[in-house]
Amino acid sequence: MPVGTQGTVKGLTIDQVASTGADMILGNTYHLRLRPGHETVARLGGLHAMSGWDGPILTDSGGFQVFSLGSLNQVTEQAATFRSHIDGAIVVLTPEHSIEIQEALGSDVAMVLDHVIALPAPQAEVEDALARSIRWAARCRAASTRSDQALFAIVQGGLDAQLRRQCATELAAMPFEGYAVGGLSVGETPEEMYATAAITTPHLPVDKPRYLMGVGTPRDLIENVARGIDLFDCVMPTRNGRNGLAFTDEGPLKLRNATHREDQRPLMQDCECLACRHSRGYLRHLFNAKEMLGPTLLSHHNLTYYGRLMSEVRTALEQGRFEEYAAGKLRGWGYEPI
Ligand code: GUN
Ligand code: ZN
Repeated sequence: MPVGTQGTVKGLTIDQVASTGADMILGNTYHLRLRPGHETVARLGGLHAMSGWDGPILTDSGGFQVFSLGSLNQVTEQAATFRSHIDGAIVVLTPEHSIEIQEALGSDVAMVLDHVIALPAPQAEVEDALARSIRWAARCRAASTRSDQALFAIVQGGLDAQLRRQCATELAAMPFEGYAVGGLSVGETPEEMYATAAITTPHLPVDKPRYLMGVGTPRDLIENVARGIDLFDCVMPTRNGRNGLAFTDEGPLKLRNATHREDQRPLMQDCECLACRHSRGYLRHLFNAKEMLGPTLLSHHNLTYYGRLMSEVRTALEQGRFEEYAAGKLRGWGYEPI
């Protein structure tokens, strides 16, 4: 899923987003609650009508953004309380309020409010946040009223195999339409992330989507699909695109580098995106001249690259040649499969 935090995938029109091959996009409860406000979104017809995206939309619950963006965060059994990063106002986010906001936004998939902590953390803290996340998941389930909105639970538990197993097993016994693995991409190594996905997915239902939140690099996608993950979201294609970095089969290219000054080649041969109609030299010029088209074109290329990667992954899985496909991709980026 491309990330559209504020009801827009940054720098792209919805037609451009759709032309990358994306089906589903992500929006954020935390941001839209603060600005323009979920009630305003509802009065503008909901997130689909407001943004013009008529494909599926998943909204994150706010748990992670409270942890990563808010200040003066305080988590009690009742609620997460934080100061808005926009105007400093104090906002109290309960599991019930998170569901109320997501129902007002009208997303197709809502996420439960979870308690995310920084790693590494003392075992007792990891256990406490995990137990609260399970109780909050039950409160979110009980609070949800829309039969046209799926609700996904989120597995926490840090890097501890036993805790991940316990959390996944308890949530899997509760009625959710899908399951996410959360609390990763918060400073752990790739190997730790892959190991955590590997011990968690076997305890989640095979017939429901398994979603790894906030991940990752092209390598992370391949390695986590190998460990049972179906769905991802990440700002990486768009954020890195805005910063002049393009993903390719040979690894990332930094377009600002002088080596690209008079390079007539596109970023990739046979890429259908809007950027690959132009030379690397022109793209470099756009970034050097701080033209807004540069971020737009590279975001379009990177989302197209990620979309194509996942489409090829699906085909390789269907044809029973995923391992061979994965090894080829990883070697192209300079990694051995692990
Ligand atoms: N986005 C990335 N990681 C997480 C997580 O652990 N929880 C939530 N709610 N969102 C996330
Ligand atoms: Zn391209």
